[in-house]
Amino acid sequence: MIRFEHVGFAYTKERGKILDDLSFTIEKGESVGIIGPNGAGKSTLLKLMVGLIFPQEGSIMIDSESVGKKNLAKIRQKIGYVFQDSDTQLFMPTVEADIGFGPKNYGLSTEEVKKRVEEALIKTGTQDLRSLSVLELSGGQKKLVSLATVLSLEPEVLLFDEPTIALDPKNRRRFIELFRELSGTKIIVTHDLDLILDTCSRTILLDEGKIVCDDETEKILYDQKLLEENGLELPLMIEGVKRRIDYENSVH
Ligand SMILES: Nc1ncnc2c1ncn2[C@@H]1O[C@H](COP(=O)(O)OP(=O)(O)OP(=O)(O)O)[C@@H](O)[C@H]1O
Ligand SMILES: [Mg+2]
Repeated sequence: MIRFEHVGFAYTKERGKILDDLSFTIEKGESVGIIGPNGAGKSTLLKLMVGLIFPQEGSIMIDSESVGKKNLAKIRQKIGYVFQDSDTQLFMPTVEADIGFGPKNYGLSTEEVKKRVEEALIKTGTQDLRSLSVLELSGGQKKLVSLATVLSLEPEVLLFDEPTIALDPKNRRRFIELFRELSGTKIIVTHDLDLILDTCSRTILLDEGKIVCDDETEKILYDQKLLEENGLELPLMIEGVKRRIDYENSVH
């Protein structure tokens, strides 16, 4: 369970509040999409959840733990976080070492670490990249390896910030299948609204640091007026269906 209560956050006093009076609860096992225009505060929200930054107002609870400096190790064991920017995520000399880094740090046996690395490589289809350095990877490959570094931790909660950016259609599909197979609580931040339609039953729409809407995914993503008022557009799939209907009406 993740609970935000009246959370307010500012990076600096001059810039002012980036997130303002946010309250919501995400239950265990839910899949939630977080959408909103550039600069809405989506990545900031995820960073607060893992305790990379701390709110000036309100509180954040993960299960019965309040997210704070004292229990960061515990919180981080529960939450896996795929960064928007893969270069922030990968720092070991090889792909294999990066994927094994987390499990090794948890003190798992060498055998268990090896098993988890293998599984994560297979799930993300990155076996052939295992000995490469981050510097030798393409943008999409970096994203896949970033996913693998989080999968190997087998966390209870998974946060994905733009997980499909840079992925080709086949790997995007692979991500969706992987996402559906994963148990636990899952949160996706993305501009790929079709991805949310395919994966999340609930969506939170954020704009200028406030929750505009928190509802069933379809209710939000089929609402052209609501999306446009908040700097977004209909998912491509819906746009396509609308065009087809317009076309058929014009023919008949
Ligand atoms: N480290 C930082 N220091 C100061 N300001 C920051 C920092 N990171 C983000 N911001 C500001 O906070 C606001 C929200 O940024 P955030 O990264 O959360 O947006 P976002 O919704 O994830 O946007 P995008 O869709 O572009 O990824 C932006 O106005 C940004 O300029
Ligand atoms: Mg972001």
